Amino acid sequence: MAEDKKKQLDDSNKQMLECSKCVLRGTCKQVVPGEGSAEAEIMFIGEGPGQKEDELGRPFVGAAGKFLDEMLETINLKREDVYIANVVKCRPPNNRDPLPEEAEACWTWLEKQIEIINPKLVVTLGRHSMERFLPNQKISQIHGKAMRRNIPGLGSRVFYALYHPAAALYNGSMRTVLIQDFKKIPKVLEAVKKSESEKKDEVISLNNNQDNQETLF
Ligand code: URA
Repeated sequence: MAEDKKKQLDDSNKQMLECSKCVLRGTCKQVVPGEGSAEAEIMFIGEGPGQKEDELGRPFVGAAGKFLDEMLETINLKREDVYIANVVKCRPPNNRDPLPEEAEACWTWLEKQIEIINPKLVVTLGRHSMERFLPNQKISQIHGKAMRRNIPGLGSRVFYALYHPAAALYNGSMRTVLIQDFKKIPKVLEAVKKSESEKKDEVISLNNNQDNQETLF
């Protein structure tokens, strides 16, 4: 089973290397599929590769990645314990924001990764990643809150929105908030597992609002 997941993920990530569905493949050096455990309970999703990631073909390996590693350590996790990916897998030129059509073109790859890994908790890093799963929200209002949402093709899942480590790196107050939110991840994960083992999902879906979205914790 574990081998199966790893193989499926490796196969999908290999196919991704051939993708040219949007213009980004024409300007980036290489595709950055993501890395970590196919068995991860937590999946972190950033916006898109930066310069260093583009050079090395690995996600979050620059300054923001170092900060992410440090925060993972505070909750006794290593990169190998989680899965780290991005909304777009190719670096946008000059680190500009990914365009909606680029995120849309790349969605099949991210969707496949989430489907295979099937994490208990998806942690979004930054506005663009949040917007993919929790649209029409303000990150300043929903950071540090876990939300269950039904995503077509992926079913009902729990998302936890955080500020982007790159944005928080040199902003004292945002940095403090991000570190505090990050430390809550183990508790959120435990709560998700508990709610699933108690099969509270039926109740949750009945209570869903128009957006099919509910704040859990
Ligand atoms: N920022 C992101 O959003 N992703 C990376 O992989 C690196 C920096």
